[in-house]
Amino acid sequence: MNIGIDQIGLYSPHYYVDLAELATARGVDPNKFIIGIGQSQQAVPPSSEDVVTMSADAAQDFIHEINTSKIGLLIVGTETGIDASKSAAVIAQRLLELPETIRTYEIKQACYGGTAALMTARDYVAAHPDKTALIFAADIARYGLEDGGEVTQGAGAVAMLISANPRLMTVEDDSQFISRDIMDFWRPVYTDLALAKGKYSTEQYIQFFQDVWRNYTQATGRSLSDFAAINFHLPYTKMGMKALRTVLPEADVATQGRLTDNYALATIYSRQIGNIYTGSLYLGLLSLLEHSTDLQAGDRLGMFSYGSGAVGEFFSGVLQPGYADQLHAAAHQQLLANRSKLSVADYERVFLNKVPYAADDYVSDTSMQTGKFRLTGVQNQERQYTIK
Ligand code: COA
Repeated sequence: MNIGIDQIGLYSPHYYVDLAELATARGVDPNKFIIGIGQSQQAVPPSSEDVVTMSADAAQDFIHEINTSKIGLLIVGTETGIDASKSAAVIAQRLLELPETIRTYEIKQACYGGTAALMTARDYVAAHPDKTALIFAADIARYGLEDGGEVTQGAGAVAMLISANPRLMTVEDDSQFISRDIMDFWRPVYTDLALAKGKYSTEQYIQFFQDVWRNYTQATGRSLSDFAAINFHLPYTKMGMKALRTVLPEADVATQGRLTDNYALATIYSRQIGNIYTGSLYLGLLSLLEHSTDLQAGDRLGMFSYGSGAVGEFFSGVLQPGYADQLHAAAHQQLLANRSKLSVADYERVFLNKVPYAADDYVSDTSMQTGKFRLTGVQNQERQYTIK
């Protein structure tokens, strides 16, 4: 039985900051951000958006076209949880007016959470082929103003419906994964800013890729030439290429060209949105599918997921007949084209206006545009949401 991604949706906030302007404000050569790190723009979420609202907004691409009574599992993969106990998933379930007869929870392992949700959903559908699973990979990447990681911030969510006989892409039963307890990136519960050992984290990402790729080739007998493209977790668009370059010499020239060209297509959305942690790999997949004119049904795509701390996984998917009909390319490109640019000063103001890490009541800025769902604030330590 084929199992995989039947539907995929995207949401990212209405605001962005231009990274050439941010570089100049930080006294950095803009080419470092744009060429050296590979980011041009960065989504800036107002405090009226969080992983709950962004997840629910990402599902708008397809939620009204599917049979929601078949959903048996709902998972939000995130490292930007809004509560140490209650999951973002149960609130998203309510905002989406989904049935109560769903097993609903949140999952966490840094940027690996989206893949953890996907693989859990795959196993669920294998056991219950008549049911579907709705999963979200949603995050707000925050390192802090003037921090070295500031250029790799971003915000957004990817929603996916996992089912038997998927119309978009199978998720093959060929995963290779490795988990190791390392400290390359983490976020203590008292802060909304991530801590990272940037150089060490980059090295570990590459090491995990090489290890799971070696195990994958040994287990499956496949090589780079079997793949139309390989998608990578993209904390910034240069990162995946650093890993890909370490194995490209294994391939013939045509394969090298194809993988390099498709890598570039997979980075178009990330270059404009930035890092969405758990969703970054799937944002790359969407970017590839929505920009490629060469891919076709039957093509095999590689997927490398990395979540600091750390878990790495490599698996493949096969594009299904008519897969392009399931995409929402024009809507996504319009979502990005219609955004409003913030000056660096306004970005800093929005960045600092946030739900406090305290018991205080809070009202989010009503002048900021959101998607269909909005966090209006916090009253008596309970988050308040509205639906447009
Ligand atoms: N023009 C063009 N390129 C330039 C440049 C310029 N003026 N100045 C620097 N660069 C290049 C560097 O040569 C380097 O390229 P390389 O990576 O191909 O060698 C790149 O820009 C980055 O420069 P570097 O000095 O390494 O950046 P940094 O130390 O300021 O930080 C971060 C880079 C932000 C990506 C990283 O350190 C970080 O903190 N990341 C957060 C954690 C993370 O993303 N981990 C990845 C695994 S999930």
